[in-house]
Order: sequence, then C-alpha cells, then structure tokens
Amino acid sequence: MTATRIAIIPGDGIGKEVMEEAIKVLEVLQEHDHTLQIEATIFPWSSDYYLEHGRMMPNNALETLAQYDAILFGAIGDDRVPDDVTVWELIMPIRKQFQQYVNFRPIKSLPGIASPLANGKNIDFVIFRENAEGEYSNSGGRIYNDQPQEMTIQNTIMTRIGIEKIVRAACNYAHKHHKTKITSATKSNAIIHSMKFWDEHTKRVLGNTSPTLQLESIYIDALVAYFVERPQDFEVVVASNLFGDILSDLGSALVGGLGLSPSANLNPEKAFPSMFEPVHGSAPNIAGKGIANPIAQIWSLALLFGHIGRPEVEELIVSAIEKVLREGSVKTADIGGQANTQEMGNAICEVIVAMKSIATRSD
Ligand code: NAI
Ligand code: MG
Repeated sequence: MTATRIAIIPGDGIGKEVMEEAIKVLEVLQEHDHTLQIEATIFPWSSDYYLEHGRMMPNNALETLAQYDAILFGAIGDDRVPDDVTVWELIMPIRKQFQQYVNFRPIKSLPGIASPLANGKNIDFVIFRENAEGEYSNSGGRIYNDQPQEMTIQNTIMTRIGIEKIVRAACNYAHKHHKTKITSATKSNAIIHSMKFWDEHTKRVLGNTSPTLQLESIYIDALVAYFVERPQDFEVVVASNLFGDILSDLGSALVGGLGLSPSANLNPEKAFPSMFEPVHGSAPNIAGKGIANPIAQIWSLALLFGHIGRPEVEELIVSAIEKVLREGSVKTADIGGQANTQEMGNAICEVIVAMKSIATRSD
C-alpha cells in the first residue's frame, strides 16, 4: 500500500498551536488504524520564514507541494508583515496554482454549542464559494498618486468556465447528499455585468446538468438577512469569491464561531493537491496563550480524509468532536469554557481511541 503524503504548514500565531493538536489526532489515528499509511512533512513557511528569507516560501515551494496528496494548513498573519504579503505570497499562489476553485465550508449546529440566534438549532448547510477568480483578483491599479485626480480600478474577473466549475461542484455535492435545492448569491440588479453573467451561467449549468435541483437566486443583501431569520432553509449555497467569503464567516458565527469552523480548498479533479484549513486566522490577540480552540483545525483534517477517499475517518473525527462537545466538560474559552488548546486536543484524541477500540472489539 502506498502511503498518503500530507504537507503540513502550521503558519503563524495560533496556527502553530492548533496544528499541534491536529498532528496529535493524526498520530492517534495512525496508531489505531493500520490501514492508514500517512507520511506527513512539516513546512515552516510563515511570517518568521519571511523575516528570515525575504519571502513567505521558497522559490520551488509549489513544485514541492505538488508532490503531496493534500495540504493541511494552519493560519498566517503577523503584525510584522503586511497582510497582503502573507496572503498573496502564500495562500493565494497555492489556491490559484493548484486550481483549488472550490472553497467548501460546512455550516452545522453542534451539540452543546449555543447559537447566537434564538432559532439557531438544526442548521445544516454547506457553502460552495468560488475560490480562484471573481472579486479577488490582482487585476487593477492606481494612477495619479497623491493628486486630486488620484484613481484606482480593481477588476472582478468571472469566466464562463470558472462559474461552470463551481456550480457543477455544488450540484454534484447536492446529488450525492440527496439535497433538493441550490441557493445562488447574486447582486445582478446593481452589479450588472459580472453578476448578470454569474446568474446566466448558474442557471444554464443547473438547467443542463441538474434539472431536478431547484435553483433560487437571492440578492446578497436579502440573503444575509435570511441567514439570520431562517438558516434552516438552506441546503447548498453557491457564491462568488467575495460573497462566499462573507457568507461563510456569517455562517460560522451562526453555529458557534470561528474556533469551530473548518474549510477545504478543493481541486475536485485531484489533478493538484487540495488544501484544508480552519476558517480563522492567526488570532494575534490570543496567540501564545495556549487557549485557542483546535476544533476548526482538527475538523479540517477530517475534511482532508473525506477528500482522499477515507470518509469513515472523517466521520470518526467529526463524531469524536461532537461527543466531546455534547459531554461538555472540556470547552475552550471561545465556546464558554476554561479548557486550554491541549486539553481540548487530548479530549478528542481520547474519544477517538475509545471509539476505535469499540470498533475493533466488534469487528
Ligand atoms: P482571526 O480569525 O485571526 O481572529 C478573529 C477573532 O476570532 C479573534 O478575536 C480571535 O481571538 C478569535 N479566534 C479565531 N480563531 C480562534 C480559535 N481557534 N479559538 C478561539 N478564538 C479564535 O481574524 P483577524 O483577527 O481578522 O485576523 C488576524 C490575522 O489573521 C490577520 O493577519 C489576518 O490577515 C489573518 N488571517 C489569516 C487567514 C488565513 O490564514 N487563512 C484567515 C483570516 C485571517
Ligand atoms: Mg474570510
């Protein structure tokens, strides 16, 4: 059996702290499941690396990463390095070069976690955010600096193929998981070129490939209100890069916050490695205190297993997280408890070990 190769990039701040717990989970899984052959390599690419080498990652980093089956990423961001450097020199090249055009984020109510919404129970939907083009492009510029006529242009790039790919991925997921409806975020009443294009091609792809799925297109301003008023109504939400980014942070807040929210940057064709990372950043306000919640990172590892063809391992990790939360004695500060990062990681590992030994006994 060939081993699955995982590249691990902990990054900055709490990224490093929560990654330690995800690595613990990985080790426990390997110890108790001999069919899991994982070869993990840790890469130190981060703001510290930048300060030492003048770049976020080496010249040949993408060639190196291309040899892995998947990437587990922590978070980056450091006061000593501008955010546009950390993002555009590390995260963006990986997402774009490896055609990780799907940003997948599950939004799910969890046991023992109160939603800020009075009606925040039984929320269970997913967001497919377009991840390779759209509003997040480096096309544009600025002229007449410091003159009264100073001006800037920032271009949104939407392609027919790009929209087709994200909508198809959302439809495939919907079919696989027996969903009935796709919600598309739009603003074609005001953004009359790119968003109209988005609407037209979304409708076309759905009509051609998934006529049994219902398509609702909702203006983004109304959609954020509906997320709050009736979050149970959504099944699969598909959105452009910017809209999807904002919707997923709102979605994550609906079900307990950033410490619990995983994400996957997917290249569904598996021509390139996909990258799995928590939605949160490096949280400099709590970095170094050892109190960050590692669940988002550990759940991201679970999504990685789903992607590499081990959905039962994904399910095991998510069940362990849910069990710890349901039981409620180990909670980090962000979800109303006093446990530290390591205690939360240990609690999840213990449940995994217990579940594994029950499974082995009944085999
Ligand atoms: P952030 O996600 O780092 O923090 C927002 C708030 O959530 C803070 O109060 C933080 O303490 C809390 N928080 C986040 N994760 C937590 C966890 N696991 N447990 C407990 N509390 C948690 O976002 P912020 O403050 O906007 O950005 C900080 C830095 O992170 C910036 O440099 C930013 O560019 C970077 N960033 C990086 C991302 C990435 O690597 N993909 C994503 C988002 C931000
Ligand atoms: Mg975001």
